[in-house]
Amino acid sequence: MSEASETSEAAGPGAEAGAEAEAAAGAAAGTAAEAAAPAPSAPGFANYQNDIYLNGLDGQLPPFTTDLTLLGASAREHLDPGAFGYLAGAAGSGATHRANREAFDRHRLVPRMLRGATQRDLTTTVLGTRMPAPVLLAPVGVQSIIHPDGELATARAAASLGVPIVLSTASSHTIEEVAEASGPDSARWFQLYWPNDDDVCVSILERARRAGFTTLVVTLDTWTLAWRPQDLDQSYLPFIRGIGTAVPFSDPAFRSALEKPPEDDVISAVLRWVPMFTGTDHSWDQLAFLREHWDGPIVLKGVLHPDDARKAADAGMDGIVVSNHGGRQVDGAIASLDALPGIVEAVGDRLEVLFDSGVRTGSDVLKALALGARAVLVGRPYAYGLAHGGEDGVRHVLRSLLADLDLTLGLSGHRTPAELSAGSLQGGV
Ligand SMILES: Cc1cc2nc3c(=O)[nH]c(=O)nc-3n(C[C@H](O)[C@H](O)[C@H](O)COP(=O)(O)O)c2cc1C
Repeated sequence: MSEASETSEAAGPGAEAGAEAEAAAGAAAGTAAEAAAPAPSAPGFANYQNDIYLNGLDGQLPPFTTDLTLLGASAREHLDPGAFGYLAGAAGSGATHRANREAFDRHRLVPRMLRGATQRDLTTTVLGTRMPAPVLLAPVGVQSIIHPDGELATARAAASLGVPIVLSTASSHTIEEVAEASGPDSARWFQLYWPNDDDVCVSILERARRAGFTTLVVTLDTWTLAWRPQDLDQSYLPFIRGIGTAVPFSDPAFRSALEKPPEDDVISAVLRWVPMFTGTDHSWDQLAFLREHWDGPIVLKGVLHPDDARKAADAGMDGIVVSNHGGRQVDGAIASLDALPGIVEAVGDRLEVLFDSGVRTGSDVLKALALGARAVLVGRPYAYGLAHGGEDGVRHVLRSLLADLDLTLGLSGHRTPAELSAGSLQGGV
Protein backbone atom coordinates (compact mmCIF):
# COMPACT_ATOMS: atom_id res chain seq x y z
CA MET A 1 0.00 0.00 0.00
CA SER A 2 1.04 3.56 -0.44
CA GLU A 3 1.86 5.45 2.71
CA ALA A 4 0.47 8.64 1.22
CA SER A 5 -1.91 10.28 3.63
CA GLU A 6 -5.43 10.92 2.47
CA THR A 7 -5.82 13.62 5.06
CA SER A 8 -2.90 15.93 4.44
CA GLU A 9 -3.62 19.03 2.40
CA ALA A 10 -1.22 21.36 0.69
CA ALA A 11 -0.81 24.56 2.69
CA GLY A 12 -3.15 27.11 1.17
CA PRO A 13 -2.34 30.78 0.71
CA GLY A 14 -4.68 31.69 3.55
CA ALA A 15 -4.32 34.58 5.94
CA GLU A 16 -2.67 32.43 8.61
CA ALA A 17 -0.06 31.04 6.25
CA GLY A 18 0.69 34.57 5.07
CA ALA A 19 1.06 35.91 8.59
CA GLU A 20 3.39 33.10 9.57
CA ALA A 21 5.59 33.61 6.51
CA GLU A 22 5.80 37.31 7.27
CA ALA A 23 6.77 36.53 10.82
CA ALA A 24 9.51 34.25 9.61
CA ALA A 25 10.87 36.86 7.22
CA GLY A 26 10.61 39.54 9.89
CA ALA A 27 12.53 37.47 12.37
CA ALA A 28 15.50 37.29 10.07
CA ALA A 29 15.32 40.98 9.29
CA GLY A 30 15.24 41.77 13.02
CA THR A 31 11.91 43.60 12.85
CA ALA A 32 9.11 43.80 15.37
CA ALA A 33 7.73 40.62 13.88
CA GLU A 34 10.54 38.85 15.70
CA ALA A 35 8.32 38.31 18.70
CA ALA A 36 5.82 36.38 16.61
CA ALA A 37 8.37 34.14 14.95
CA PRO A 38 9.09 30.70 16.32
CA ALA A 39 11.46 31.12 19.23
CA PRO A 40 14.56 29.04 19.08
CA SER A 41 14.47 26.18 21.50
CA ALA A 42 17.70 24.41 22.19
CA PRO A 43 18.87 23.71 19.52
CA GLY A 44 16.25 25.63 17.56
CA PHE A 45 14.64 22.95 15.45
CA ALA A 46 11.67 25.21 14.66
CA ASN A 47 14.04 27.51 12.79
CA TYR A 48 13.97 25.13 9.85
CA GLN A 49 10.60 26.69 9.08
CA ASN A 50 12.21 30.14 8.90
CA ASP A 51 15.00 28.83 6.69
CA ILE A 52 12.52 27.37 4.24
CA TYR A 53 10.39 30.49 3.96
CA LEU A 54 13.44 32.75 3.67
CA ASN A 55 14.96 30.58 0.96
CA GLY A 56 11.65 30.94 -0.84
CA LEU A 57 12.36 34.66 -1.22
CA ASP A 58 15.24 33.59 -3.48
CA GLY A 59 12.98 31.22 -5.34
CA GLN A 60 14.40 28.16 -3.60
CA LEU A 61 12.11 25.34 -2.51
CA PRO A 62 12.83 22.55 -0.02
CA PRO A 63 14.61 19.60 -1.70
CA PHE A 64 11.39 17.55 -1.50
CA THR A 65 8.17 17.62 0.41
CA THR A 66 8.03 18.55 4.09
CA ASP A 67 4.92 16.36 4.48
CA LEU A 68 6.49 13.14 5.68
CA THR A 69 3.25 11.21 5.16
CA LEU A 70 3.76 11.64 1.41
CA LEU A 71 7.31 10.31 1.18
CA GLY A 72 6.38 6.69 0.62
CA ALA A 73 4.66 7.53 -2.63
CA SER A 74 7.48 9.70 -3.99
CA ALA A 75 10.24 7.28 -2.89
CA ARG A 76 8.90 4.83 -5.46
CA GLU A 77 10.25 7.12 -8.20
CA HIS A 78 13.78 6.88 -6.79
CA LEU A 79 14.05 3.14 -6.23
CA ASP A 80 14.10 -0.15 -8.10
CA PRO A 81 10.81 -2.02 -7.66
CA GLY A 82 12.50 -4.65 -5.48
CA ALA A 83 14.09 -2.12 -3.16
CA PHE A 84 10.89 -0.08 -2.97
CA GLY A 85 8.84 -3.16 -2.12
CA TYR A 86 11.30 -4.12 0.60
CA LEU A 87 11.26 -0.65 2.13
CA ALA A 88 7.60 0.24 1.86
CA GLY A 89 6.14 -3.23 2.16
CA ALA A 90 4.51 -4.90 5.10
CA ALA A 91 3.43 -8.33 6.25
CA GLY A 92 0.41 -10.06 4.71
CA SER A 93 -2.48 -7.79 3.82
CA GLY A 94 -0.84 -4.72 5.36
CA ALA A 95 -3.55 -4.56 8.05
CA THR A 96 -1.14 -3.80 10.87
CA HIS A 97 0.77 -1.28 8.79
CA ARG A 98 -2.51 0.58 8.24
CA ALA A 99 -3.57 0.09 11.86
CA ASN A 100 -0.45 1.91 13.04
CA ARG A 101 -1.49 5.05 11.20
CA GLU A 102 -5.17 4.67 12.07
CA ALA A 103 -4.29 4.53 15.77
CA PHE A 104 -2.49 7.85 15.50
CA ASP A 105 -5.47 9.34 13.69
CA ARG A 106 -7.83 8.16 16.44
CA HIS A 107 -5.93 10.06 19.13
CA ARG A 108 -6.27 13.84 19.26
CA LEU A 109 -4.27 16.46 21.07
CA VAL A 110 -6.17 19.10 23.03
CA PRO A 111 -4.04 22.26 22.78
CA ARG A 112 -3.78 24.56 25.78
CA MET A 113 -3.25 28.33 25.55
CA LEU A 114 -1.27 31.06 27.34
CA ARG A 115 1.18 28.64 28.86
CA GLY A 116 4.39 30.50 28.15
CA ALA A 117 5.60 27.96 25.61
CA THR A 118 7.80 30.45 23.71
CA GLN A 119 11.02 28.90 24.95
CA ARG A 120 11.11 25.16 24.69
CA ASP A 121 13.61 22.50 25.59
CA LEU A 122 13.26 19.20 23.79
CA THR A 123 16.40 17.61 25.14
CA THR A 124 16.16 14.39 27.07
CA THR A 125 18.36 11.59 28.36
CA VAL A 126 17.42 7.96 27.82
CA LEU A 127 19.54 5.17 29.32
CA GLY A 128 22.43 7.56 29.73
CA THR A 129 22.25 8.83 26.15
CA ARG A 130 21.70 12.57 25.90
CA MET A 131 19.62 13.48 22.86
CA PRO A 132 18.37 16.81 21.48
CA ALA A 133 14.80 15.50 21.24
CA PRO A 134 13.12 12.24 22.24
CA VAL A 135 13.68 10.80 18.76
CA LEU A 136 16.06 8.10 17.56
CA LEU A 137 16.59 6.54 14.15
CA ALA A 138 15.14 3.03 14.17
CA PRO A 139 17.37 0.24 12.92
CA VAL A 140 16.73 -0.15 9.19
CA GLY A 141 18.85 -2.81 7.52
CA VAL A 142 20.26 -3.10 4.02
CA GLN A 143 20.37 0.63 3.34
CA SER A 144 22.64 0.21 0.32
CA ILE A 145 19.59 -0.91 -1.67
CA ILE A 146 18.19 2.57 -0.99
CA HIS A 147 21.33 4.61 -1.66
CA PRO A 148 24.95 3.57 -2.30
CA ASP A 149 26.13 5.42 0.83
CA GLY A 150 23.48 3.65 2.89
CA GLU A 151 24.09 3.61 6.64
CA LEU A 152 27.10 5.92 6.26
CA ALA A 153 24.91 8.70 4.89
CA THR A 154 22.31 8.10 7.58
CA ALA A 155 24.94 8.14 10.32
CA ARG A 156 26.41 11.41 9.04
CA ALA A 157 23.03 13.12 8.80
CA ALA A 158 22.01 11.97 12.27
CA ALA A 159 25.34 13.02 13.79
CA SER A 160 25.05 16.46 12.24
CA LEU A 161 21.87 16.99 14.28
CA GLY A 162 22.93 15.01 17.35
CA VAL A 163 20.16 12.46 16.83
CA PRO A 164 21.11 8.93 17.96
CA ILE A 165 21.14 6.08 15.47
CA VAL A 166 20.37 2.45 16.14
CA LEU A 167 22.56 0.48 13.74
CA SER A 168 21.08 -2.75 12.40
CA THR A 169 22.86 -6.10 12.40
CA ALA A 170 21.69 -6.22 8.77
CA SER A 171 23.71 -3.13 7.90
CA SER A 172 25.30 -2.94 4.47
CA HIS A 173 28.39 -1.30 5.99
CA THR A 174 30.46 -2.65 8.86
CA ILE A 175 30.04 -1.60 12.47
CA GLU A 176 33.43 0.09 12.38
CA GLU A 177 32.72 1.99 9.14
CA VAL A 178 29.45 3.35 10.50
CA ALA A 179 31.11 4.36 13.77
CA GLU A 180 33.73 6.26 11.83
CA ALA A 181 31.10 7.99 9.68
CA SER A 182 29.23 8.97 12.85
CA GLY A 183 32.26 10.67 14.33
CA PRO A 184 33.68 10.35 17.81
CA ASP A 185 31.00 12.23 19.75
CA SER A 186 27.83 10.89 18.19
CA ALA A 187 25.27 8.86 20.10
CA ARG A 188 24.90 5.36 18.75
CA TRP A 189 23.10 2.20 19.81
CA PHE A 190 23.44 -1.23 18.22
CA GLN A 191 20.57 -3.51 17.23
CA LEU A 192 21.11 -7.24 17.45
CA TYR A 193 19.52 -9.91 15.33
CA TRP A 194 20.44 -12.66 17.72
CA PRO A 195 22.57 -15.22 15.85
CA ASN A 196 22.21 -18.85 16.90
CA ASP A 197 26.01 -19.15 17.10
CA ASP A 198 27.28 -17.91 20.48
CA ASP A 199 30.83 -17.19 19.31
CA VAL A 200 29.62 -15.03 16.44
CA CYS A 201 27.14 -13.32 18.75
CA VAL A 202 29.79 -12.45 21.34
CA SER A 203 32.20 -11.30 18.66
CA ILE A 204 29.61 -8.92 17.16
CA LEU A 205 28.76 -7.56 20.62
CA GLU A 206 32.41 -6.94 21.41
CA ARG A 207 32.93 -5.12 18.12
CA ALA A 208 29.90 -2.92 18.76
CA ARG A 209 31.15 -2.01 22.24
CA ARG A 210 34.65 -1.25 20.97
CA ALA A 211 33.19 0.94 18.23
CA GLY A 212 31.36 3.10 20.78
CA PHE A 213 27.82 1.73 20.59
CA THR A 214 26.47 2.20 24.11
CA THR A 215 23.07 0.49 24.25
CA LEU A 216 22.11 -2.90 22.86
CA VAL A 217 18.69 -3.20 21.22
CA VAL A 218 17.69 -6.85 20.82
CA THR A 219 14.98 -7.37 18.23
CA LEU A 220 12.65 -10.17 19.28
CA ASP A 221 9.93 -10.04 16.64
CA THR A 222 11.92 -11.01 13.54
CA TRP A 223 13.52 -14.32 14.43
CA THR A 224 12.20 -15.43 11.08
CA LEU A 225 10.87 -13.33 8.21
CA ALA A 226 7.12 -12.89 7.93
CA TRP A 227 5.04 -13.55 4.82
CA ARG A 228 5.67 -10.36 2.84
CA PRO A 229 3.85 -10.42 -0.49
CA GLN A 230 5.62 -7.37 -1.95
CA ASP A 231 8.96 -9.17 -1.61
CA LEU A 232 7.64 -12.63 -2.47
CA ASP A 233 5.96 -11.47 -5.66
CA GLN A 234 9.29 -10.09 -6.88
CA SER A 235 11.37 -12.94 -5.37
CA TYR A 236 13.36 -10.19 -3.71
CA LEU A 237 15.41 -10.83 -0.58
CA PRO A 238 18.65 -8.82 -0.37
CA PHE A 239 20.39 -11.06 2.18
CA ILE A 240 20.56 -14.08 -0.11
CA ARG A 241 22.39 -11.87 -2.61
CA GLY A 242 25.00 -11.01 0.04
CA ILE A 243 23.53 -7.53 0.59
CA GLY A 244 23.00 -6.39 4.18
CA THR A 245 25.61 -8.87 5.38
CA ALA A 246 28.57 -6.56 6.07
CA VAL A 247 28.43 -7.15 9.83
CA PRO A 248 28.90 -10.95 9.75
CA PHE A 249 31.07 -10.98 6.63
CA SER A 250 33.57 -8.69 8.39
CA ASP A 251 33.40 -10.64 11.64
CA PRO A 252 36.46 -12.70 12.61
CA ALA A 253 34.43 -15.40 14.40
CA PHE A 254 32.12 -15.76 11.41
CA ARG A 255 34.95 -15.79 8.89
CA SER A 256 37.05 -18.30 10.80
CA ALA A 257 34.49 -21.06 10.16
CA LEU A 258 34.43 -20.47 6.39
CA GLU A 259 36.64 -22.38 4.02
CA LYS A 260 37.02 -19.33 1.80
CA PRO A 261 36.40 -15.68 2.76
CA PRO A 262 33.07 -14.14 1.64
CA GLU A 263 34.96 -12.04 -0.96
CA ASP A 264 35.95 -15.27 -2.74
CA ASP A 265 32.84 -17.36 -2.14
CA VAL A 266 29.81 -15.27 -1.36
CA ILE A 267 27.34 -18.13 -1.77
CA SER A 268 28.90 -20.24 1.00
CA ALA A 269 29.04 -17.21 3.29
CA VAL A 270 25.37 -16.44 2.61
CA LEU A 271 24.40 -20.07 3.20
CA ARG A 272 26.13 -19.92 6.57
CA TRP A 273 24.74 -16.52 7.65
CA VAL A 274 21.09 -16.72 6.66
CA PRO A 275 20.22 -19.74 8.85
CA MET A 276 22.37 -18.27 11.62
CA PHE A 277 20.42 -15.05 12.00
CA THR A 278 16.98 -16.13 10.89
CA GLY A 279 14.90 -19.18 11.77
CA THR A 280 15.75 -19.65 15.46
CA ASP A 281 13.51 -18.33 18.24
CA HIS A 282 15.07 -17.80 21.65
CA SER A 283 13.64 -17.91 25.19
CA TRP A 284 13.47 -15.54 28.14
CA ASP A 285 16.09 -17.42 30.16
CA GLN A 286 18.64 -16.92 27.35
CA LEU A 287 18.68 -13.18 28.00
CA ALA A 288 21.16 -13.90 30.79
CA PHE A 289 23.68 -14.76 28.07
CA LEU A 290 23.35 -11.32 26.51
CA ARG A 291 23.57 -9.65 29.91
CA GLU A 292 26.79 -11.57 30.56
CA HIS A 293 28.34 -10.34 27.32
CA TRP A 294 27.07 -6.74 27.20
CA ASP A 295 27.89 -4.38 30.03
CA GLY A 296 25.71 -1.47 28.86
CA PRO A 297 21.93 -1.05 28.88
CA ILE A 298 19.84 -3.66 27.04
CA VAL A 299 16.54 -2.84 25.35
CA LEU A 300 14.14 -5.45 23.93
CA LYS A 301 12.47 -4.37 20.70
CA GLY A 302 9.14 -5.77 19.54
CA VAL A 303 7.18 -6.00 22.80
CA LEU A 304 3.39 -5.73 22.39
CA HIS A 305 1.93 -7.55 25.43
CA PRO A 306 2.08 -6.25 29.02
CA ASP A 307 3.07 -9.71 30.26
CA ASP A 308 6.09 -9.74 27.95
CA ALA A 309 6.95 -6.27 29.22
CA ARG A 310 6.81 -7.61 32.80
CA LYS A 311 9.02 -10.52 31.78
CA ALA A 312 11.53 -8.06 30.34
CA ALA A 313 11.58 -6.16 33.62
CA ASP A 314 11.84 -9.41 35.61
CA ALA A 315 14.79 -10.41 33.41
CA GLY A 316 16.58 -7.23 34.43
CA MET A 317 16.33 -5.52 31.06
CA ASP A 318 16.74 -1.75 30.99
CA GLY A 319 14.15 -0.89 28.39
CA ILE A 320 11.74 -2.09 25.74
CA VAL A 321 10.55 -0.77 22.41
CA VAL A 322 6.82 -1.17 21.97
CA SER A 323 6.86 -2.01 18.28
CA ASN A 324 5.26 -4.21 15.65
CA HIS A 325 8.22 -3.64 13.32
CA GLY A 326 6.26 -1.14 11.27
CA GLY A 327 3.63 -3.78 10.46
CA ARG A 328 6.23 -5.97 8.77
CA GLN A 329 5.95 -9.09 10.91
CA VAL A 330 2.56 -10.21 12.30
CA ASP A 331 -0.20 -9.15 9.94
CA GLY A 332 -3.31 -8.44 11.98
CA ALA A 333 -1.26 -7.57 15.07
CA ILE A 334 -2.37 -4.78 17.37
CA ALA A 335 -1.35 -1.25 16.40
CA SER A 336 1.78 -0.35 18.29
CA LEU A 337 0.17 2.82 19.68
CA ASP A 338 -2.79 0.82 21.00
CA ALA A 339 -0.40 -1.49 22.85
CA LEU A 340 1.50 1.37 24.46
CA PRO A 341 -0.73 2.55 27.38
CA GLY A 342 -1.23 -0.94 28.85
CA ILE A 343 2.49 -1.60 28.71
CA VAL A 344 3.37 1.73 30.29
CA GLU A 345 0.90 0.98 33.06
CA ALA A 346 2.45 -2.47 33.58
CA VAL A 347 6.15 -1.52 33.62
CA GLY A 348 6.57 2.23 33.13
CA ASP A 349 8.09 2.55 36.58
CA ARG A 350 10.46 -0.40 36.12
CA LEU A 351 12.18 0.24 32.79
CA GLU A 352 12.34 2.72 29.93
CA VAL A 353 9.47 2.32 27.48
CA LEU A 354 10.32 3.44 23.95
CA PHE A 355 7.98 3.32 20.98
CA ASP A 356 7.97 2.85 17.22
CA SER A 357 5.76 1.99 14.24
CA GLY A 358 3.83 4.57 12.30
CA VAL A 359 5.48 7.80 13.48
CA ARG A 360 5.33 10.30 10.61
CA THR A 361 4.73 13.76 12.15
CA GLY A 362 5.62 15.88 15.14
CA SER A 363 2.13 15.38 16.43
CA ASP A 364 2.60 11.59 16.27
CA VAL A 365 5.66 11.92 18.47
CA LEU A 366 3.68 14.00 20.97
CA LYS A 367 0.86 11.44 21.07
CA ALA A 368 3.25 8.58 21.80
CA LEU A 369 4.94 10.61 24.52
CA ALA A 370 1.56 11.59 25.99
CA LEU A 371 0.70 7.90 26.19
CA GLY A 372 3.84 7.27 28.20
CA ALA A 373 6.72 6.61 25.79
CA ARG A 374 10.04 8.16 26.83
CA ALA A 375 11.19 8.48 23.22
CA VAL A 376 10.23 7.26 19.77
CA LEU A 377 12.10 5.57 16.95
CA VAL A 378 11.39 6.55 13.37
CA GLY A 379 11.89 4.03 10.56
CA ARG A 380 10.63 4.41 7.00
CA PRO A 381 10.51 8.23 6.86
CA TYR A 382 14.27 8.70 7.12
CA ALA A 383 14.87 5.75 4.78
CA TYR A 384 12.59 7.46 2.26
CA GLY A 385 14.71 10.59 2.79
CA LEU A 386 17.79 8.51 1.99
CA ALA A 387 16.11 7.42 -1.24
CA HIS A 388 15.33 11.01 -2.18
CA GLY A 389 18.74 12.51 -1.52
CA GLY A 390 21.27 10.46 0.44
CA GLU A 391 22.71 12.20 3.50
CA ASP A 392 20.98 15.52 2.65
CA GLY A 393 17.71 13.69 2.19
CA VAL A 394 17.92 12.09 5.62
CA ARG A 395 18.81 15.46 7.12
CA HIS A 396 15.81 17.13 5.45
CA VAL A 397 13.47 14.49 6.85
CA LEU A 398 14.92 14.78 10.34
CA ARG A 399 14.89 18.58 10.34
CA SER A 400 11.30 18.54 9.10
CA LEU A 401 10.18 16.08 11.75
CA LEU A 402 12.01 17.89 14.55
CA ALA A 403 10.76 21.32 13.46
CA ASP A 404 7.20 20.01 13.31
CA LEU A 405 7.69 18.41 16.74
CA ASP A 406 9.13 21.59 18.24
CA LEU A 407 6.36 23.81 16.84
CA THR A 408 3.53 21.43 17.72
CA LEU A 409 4.88 20.95 21.23
CA GLY A 410 4.77 24.69 21.79
CA LEU A 411 1.52 25.36 19.97
CA SER A 412 -0.21 22.71 22.06
CA GLY A 413 0.98 24.48 25.21
CA HIS A 414 3.99 22.45 26.29
CA ARG A 415 7.56 23.57 26.92
CA THR A 416 9.20 20.20 27.40
CA PRO A 417 8.38 16.61 26.43
CA ALA A 418 8.05 15.81 30.14
CA GLU A 419 4.98 18.10 30.35
CA LEU A 420 3.00 15.77 28.08
CA SER A 421 0.61 13.36 29.74
CA ALA A 422 -2.62 11.53 29.00
CA GLY A 423 -4.28 14.86 29.88
CA SER A 424 -2.77 16.33 26.69
CA LEU A 425 -5.09 14.05 24.69
CA GLN A 426 -8.82 14.09 24.08
CA GLY A 427 -10.48 11.90 26.68
CA GLY A 428 -7.31 11.75 28.74
CA VAL A 429 -7.18 12.61 32.43
C1 LIG B 1 13.28 -1.50 5.22
C2 LIG B 1 13.21 -1.76 6.69
C3 LIG B 1 14.24 -2.48 7.28
C4 LIG B 1 14.20 -2.73 8.65
N1 LIG B 1 15.26 -3.37 9.22
C5 LIG B 1 15.25 -3.59 10.55
C6 LIG B 1 16.37 -4.20 11.17
O1 LIG B 1 17.34 -4.53 10.54
N2 LIG B 1 16.31 -4.41 12.50
C7 LIG B 1 15.21 -4.06 13.26
O2 LIG B 1 15.19 -4.27 14.47
N3 LIG B 1 14.17 -3.44 12.68
C8 LIG B 1 14.17 -3.20 11.37
N4 LIG B 1 13.11 -2.55 10.79
C9 LIG B 1 12.00 -2.08 11.64
C10 LIG B 1 12.29 -0.69 12.19
O3 LIG B 1 13.33 -0.71 13.11
C11 LIG B 1 11.06 -0.10 12.89
O4 LIG B 1 10.60 -0.99 13.87
C12 LIG B 1 9.94 0.23 11.93
O5 LIG B 1 10.42 0.68 10.69
C13 LIG B 1 9.06 1.31 12.57
O6 LIG B 1 7.97 1.59 11.77
P1 LIG B 1 7.90 2.81 10.75
O7 LIG B 1 8.67 2.39 9.55
O8 LIG B 1 6.45 2.93 10.52
O9 LIG B 1 8.51 4.02 11.43
C14 LIG B 1 13.12 -2.26 9.43
C15 LIG B 1 12.11 -1.53 8.83
C16 LIG B 1 12.15 -1.26 7.48
C17 LIG B 1 11.06 -0.42 6.87
